[in-house]
Amino acid sequence: MKFNRRTHTCGELKEENIGQQVVLNGWVDTRRDLGGVIFIDIRDRHGITQIVFEPSFNETAHEIGKDLRSEFVISIEGKVRRRPEGTENSGITTGYVDVMVERVVVLNKSLTPPFQIKDGVEVNEDVRLKYRYLDLRRKEMQDNMILRHKMYQSVRKYFDANSFVEIETPVLMKSTPEGARDFLVPSRTHKGRFYALPQSPQQYKQLLMVAGFDRYFQIVKCFRDEDLRADRQPEFTQIDLEMSFVDTEDVFEIMEGLMKQLLKEVKDYDLQTPIPRLTFNEAMEKYGSDKPDLRFDLEMTTLNETFVQTEFKVFKDILAEKGVITGLNAKGCGSYTRNQLDVLTDYVKKLGAGGLIWMRVKEDGLEAPIAKFLTDKEKADLQESLKAEAGDLLLILSGPKLKALSIMGNLRLEIGKRMDLITKNSDPKLLWVTDFPLLEWDEESQRYYAMHHPFTSPYLEEVDLLSSDPGKVRARAYDLVLDGNEIAGGSIRIHDAKLQALMFKTLGITQEEAEQKFGFLMNAFKYGAPPHGGIAFGLDRLAMLFAGENSIREVIAFPKTASGMSLMDEAPSFVDETQLKELHIKIR
Ligand code: AMO
Repeated sequence: MKFNRRTHTCGELKEENIGQQVVLNGWVDTRRDLGGVIFIDIRDRHGITQIVFEPSFNETAHEIGKDLRSEFVISIEGKVRRRPEGTENSGITTGYVDVMVERVVVLNKSLTPPFQIKDGVEVNEDVRLKYRYLDLRRKEMQDNMILRHKMYQSVRKYFDANSFVEIETPVLMKSTPEGARDFLVPSRTHKGRFYALPQSPQQYKQLLMVAGFDRYFQIVKCFRDEDLRADRQPEFTQIDLEMSFVDTEDVFEIMEGLMKQLLKEVKDYDLQTPIPRLTFNEAMEKYGSDKPDLRFDLEMTTLNETFVQTEFKVFKDILAEKGVITGLNAKGCGSYTRNQLDVLTDYVKKLGAGGLIWMRVKEDGLEAPIAKFLTDKEKADLQESLKAEAGDLLLILSGPKLKALSIMGNLRLEIGKRMDLITKNSDPKLLWVTDFPLLEWDEESQRYYAMHHPFTSPYLEEVDLLSSDPGKVRARAYDLVLDGNEIAGGSIRIHDAKLQALMFKTLGITQEEAEQKFGFLMNAFKYGAPPHGGIAFGLDRLAMLFAGENSIREVIAFPKTASGMSLMDEAPSFVDETQLKELHIKIR
């Protein structure tokens, strides 16, 4: 079909164009037929422009205009005029002009879309995902995609300016477990063998350091077959980097520079550096989380000292078992009813707590079911530790350390929500969490797991503890947290084959197993591996937070559902018997 190329986009015409002859191409957005005169908003990704079909101005165009419906693709030609007084729309840049249509070509018709192409539309997410190409026509989604685009450009510019080299690493690789389950790809030519999709380019970037590239980065897809949540997808994007001849401080400096630039260029926000830091222990004790939300205070306090002499059996037992007693002062919540307190108790019980101790602070002391078990000194010390004042509500949990702290951390978030402490437009709150434990004990399998991954270096002065008290060893690992979300994680790596072997041993990985799974990396380390370290950002999470969204699906063009389905193309799908045969696969 013959049509004229556009002279302008639909977001471009302003008063300075008045009188010009223009061609616009785009979609029919809204349409108003005012008894004779038809007003249509024509839309493309740049904006919308009002076009006018008036019979007295051009009868043929007006006739065609009558049949135009939502989402038809059209090309129009006409003259830009000033909108009649009183009909301007100051909310959009094109709002002072419209185009009197002289010629219109329908480039394509459209079925009635399953939902209206407009912002804030209330549609079931499954329908949006099935018709994602329509969903992506909405301005909110286009803004999100453009925000992501800006992030890519900013990231590339930053790393290039800092002498990083962008290198692509394979998507078909060897299955090397990193924490989550692998996605496997069967080999046709090597019967019974499988490639795995990378959970991250971790080993490759370390090999690139051995290869001498000294500063590597990549914006890269990672694949993890794990349970999905609002901030998790089976395939997601990392900003991945690795540096040689560095220690933690060098990685921090580079990352802080990146965050500064991203926030400036994408959000026009001036980030003050250095970004504050907390050790894992401090974060757990103060906020009950390794990714604390610092947009509000509401700090927790460890009360073990306060109750060191106590005769109150619950606390006494916990202290004897080296557990923790942790308290939180919900300021001004002393008027919570019994019912509200029961709701909070149920909340912590669902998370695995035995119960919740509460105390209302009154002018004349503490009102609480357990008050009678505490001495006056304990009560006074408690009030002092929690800076309690009349009208406050004190909440106390006790139990095994990490478990009790993390339940209290959840309660802190819940109280924060109830007290409306998180303001939507507060400044971004960034935080480094450092000094994670190297290892995590798993009760079920009775063995240690690497908290980060098995290539993470312990504090070298604590290496001896690996054989005597492995749980005590701290890792040279760090996470970057933004508004309570883990947006990046990394570490200084082990670059010494002997230490790596010791680490595998501590993890209960036999030499043969290590050889079979990670042999290529360990071999490489025999040929002069430089000291190195790095980090990876979850780009989707960062984009989600920058966009003010609650789910990373909102910033991914074609995401999967919580059950890992792509509703649009229906992947994963069944395949032909012949395809399976070629891959030597039989479905049971
Ligand atoms: P890690 O496993 O911590 O580290 O991942 C880095 C960051 O990636 C994001 N992320 C995810 N985002 C969306 N969906 C997921 N399923 C998902 N899983 C992780 C998080 C996380 O902080 N190789 C190491 C990095 C390193 O040590 O350099 C790694 O992958 O924001």
